[in-house]
Amino acid sequence: MHAIRVYQVGGPEVLRYESVERPSPGRGQALVRVEAAGINFIEVYQRTGRYKVALPFTPGSEAGGEVVEIGDGVSEVKVGDQVASQNLVGSYAEYALAAAERLVRLPAGVTPRAGAAVMLQGMTAHYLACSTFPLAAGHTCLVHAAAGGVGLLLCQIAKRRGARVIGTVSTGEKAALAREAGADEVILYMQEDFATETRRLTAGAGVQVVYDSVGRTTFAKSLDCLAPRGMMVLYGQSSGPVEPVDPQVLAQKGSLFLTRPTLAHYVATQTELLERASVVLGWVADGSLKVRIGHEFPLAAAAEAHTELEARRTAGKVLLIP
Ligand SMILES: NC(=O)c1ccc[n+]([C@@H]2O[C@H](COP(=O)([O-])OP(=O)(O)OC[C@H]3O[C@@H](n4cnc5c(N)ncnc54)[C@H](OP(=O)(O)O)[C@@H]3O)[C@@H](O)[C@H]2O)c1
Repeated sequence: MHAIRVYQVGGPEVLRYESVERPSPGRGQALVRVEAAGINFIEVYQRTGRYKVALPFTPGSEAGGEVVEIGDGVSEVKVGDQVASQNLVGSYAEYALAAAERLVRLPAGVTPRAGAAVMLQGMTAHYLACSTFPLAAGHTCLVHAAAGGVGLLLCQIAKRRGARVIGTVSTGEKAALAREAGADEVILYMQEDFATETRRLTAGAGVQVVYDSVGRTTFAKSLDCLAPRGMMVLYGQSSGPVEPVDPQVLAQKGSLFLTRPTLAHYVATQTELLERASVVLGWVADGSLKVRIGHEFPLAAAAEAHTELEARRTAGKVLLIP
């Protein structure tokens, strides 16, 4: 089979398309023929060495496809099932393995491609809006990178929970997408001071929660957007890591809460994974959550896909097609 291999950390060019041996499922595992692999920003951090991974490795964890082989002791799925998961090991490949208990069977009406596009980012948007800070009517939230993969899903889920949504994006084109996803207001944060704008849009009151995936360039000003006792949810760092924070700043800026959540802890058990996934996939199946697959690249063009993602030229989901 073909897969992307990384032998040294570096730029997109370290993503090499190669022939490798097809893996076999061990006890409790299932082998999935990948129909589409999801690209997520975490793979950029791993490729560049910002997040440490033992070399060599095949990147990727998210995909949708069909179960083609199961190991001993597997009862969760059977051969022929259409599944998706954010825990497939090395999903930038034609085939990938997962623990069977981490696979989710796709409901009728959700294709493996849509499954690949929504598992990781959809469940992330879900836990952010429903668990980390459960949004409700009367809340206003600020969503950075609102036209991104997580961003477009988060805008929609925040709206369905009744919140007012202020989004930030870099271009007019992305602003239109964020509005389509439900953002009530959109700030072009490369041109305008988003803290001043957020204060203006909330008549000085500030927002109850900031969902910040951008990190270095937005973190400090995001604190200035919060109402007293608001929550700063730092869940990514696409512009780079945030400087260390003095907890006293949280007191000075209004007895703020700060959390740095990650999906793994919000789908830690199989029960929580299946509950969260079934809500998100159910919304996709009934058409109430729109998944925007913005870009599809052949597996062999993984380097090009990373280049586009890092250059901020993508909106919505980026998929690799083996
Ligand atoms: N904690 C978790 O559980 C979790 C789960 C999933 C994802 N994440 C994180 O969430 C973030 C978004 O992930 P995603 O896969 O949906 O990516 P994405 O938002 O589709 O892509 C990144 C976006 O960030 C914005 N950005 C701002 N400054 C940037 C810079 N210097 N370089 C690159 N992009 C920049 C760009 O939007 P504009 O052009 O509009 O500025 C860009 O399109 C990532 O940081 C990811 O690691 C965290």
